[in-house]
Amino acid sequence: MSTTTVTVTGEPGYDIRIGRDILGDLPELIGPGAAKVLIVHPATLGARAERLRVSLSDRYEVLLAEIPDAETGKRIEVAAFCWQVMGQSDFTRSDVVIGFGGGSVTDLAGFVAATWLRGIALIQVPTTLLGMVDASIGGKTGINTNEGKNLVGAFYAPSAVLVDLDTLDGLSQNEILAGFAEVVKAGFIAEPEILDIIERDVDVATDPHSAEFRRLVELSIALKARVVGEDFKENGLREILNYGHTLGHAVEYAERFQWRHGAAVAIGMVYAAELGRLTGRLSDDVVDRHRSILTSLQLPISYPAGRWPTLLSVMKRDKKARGALLRFIVLDDVARPTVLTGPDESLLFAAYQEIGS
Ligand SMILES: NC(=O)c1ccc[n+]([C@@H]2O[C@H](COP(=O)([O-])OP(=O)(O)OC[C@H]3O[C@@H](n4cnc5c(N)ncnc54)[C@H](O)[C@@H]3O)[C@@H](O)[C@H]2O)c1
Repeated sequence: MSTTTVTVTGEPGYDIRIGRDILGDLPELIGPGAAKVLIVHPATLGARAERLRVSLSDRYEVLLAEIPDAETGKRIEVAAFCWQVMGQSDFTRSDVVIGFGGGSVTDLAGFVAATWLRGIALIQVPTTLLGMVDASIGGKTGINTNEGKNLVGAFYAPSAVLVDLDTLDGLSQNEILAGFAEVVKAGFIAEPEILDIIERDVDVATDPHSAEFRRLVELSIALKARVVGEDFKENGLREILNYGHTLGHAVEYAERFQWRHGAAVAIGMVYAAELGRLTGRLSDDVVDRHRSILTSLQLPISYPAGRWPTLLSVMKRDKKARGALLRFIVLDDVARPTVLTGPDESLLFAAYQEIGS
């Protein structure tokens, strides 16, 4: 099947290539000017990273940086390890970093590329659904500190993103379904076709080998590309991507980051839908649609009623960190997002009662 290209506009713009069995496109994306390539990857993808190294090694000197898995890879010590590998092999401005893994790897690799010699070329090759539709696109790179997640980082656009759906082979169904929360989000804020495809046949929609799955990935990527192309540094439109995330982040915090991001965002979307309904914006049908679609994807739609004080205080603390009023993205209808600023606490509580279990 052919490759689909989605272009992210901006300065600099870049292409996202989507297809199957397209890792062979990498030399074309790396270009002839580079001498060295660093592939940053987790141990889970060690064998595949090695195959990638071999496939590129007739043209480039290819180094592998195997990093700790998931969030433990997003640490300053791990970035320093990558800088050390690059320094010891005289990485120059014309050389290239490849992030080969899930969102944790693309975040770390992006940060390393953004900081080495004040920025060298970065190619993101996401291997999780979340990485494909969200983390690898949009140029947010970063690491965690002891004080919190993603506190240090840079907006740094990749020079290309290669989404090879075949790299999802081996990823657990649980990770696929967690990634679907961001796909559903794209459906509710902008792309109703996504919701229709999932409702038509959820098994087909979530099968990484189906044409429908590819269509969902393409629609989600096209939406994110459009939004970040217009608002790279999150000064306006990009905020719509936070649908479900205000409460979702608080749930992640309350769960000490042991939950998949998608599960927390699923609860956050139902909460935002209830806020929309209680403020007279959203119909019962659309709110029900949130619950039925997320349930069909085995994602949670409720959270213990007694956790409200914790969630509220975390949201307030986040709000303080951003120096603004508490803000929620809510919907006037499917594909009609808007911002709800500084809602009354009684309204916030009433909406929580609708999702409390
Ligand atoms: N930069 C952004 O805009 C942005 C957006 C959303 C999320 N994120 C970040 O993304 C991270 C979460 O990303 P994630 O959900 O991809 O998690 P992840 O990177 O931790 O990967 C999840 C697990 O899947 C494994 N894995 C990856 N690809 C695999 C494959 N093909 N086969 C088998 N196993 C595989 C990993 O080793 C890991 O254990 C978080 O750190 C989050 O902050 C960033």
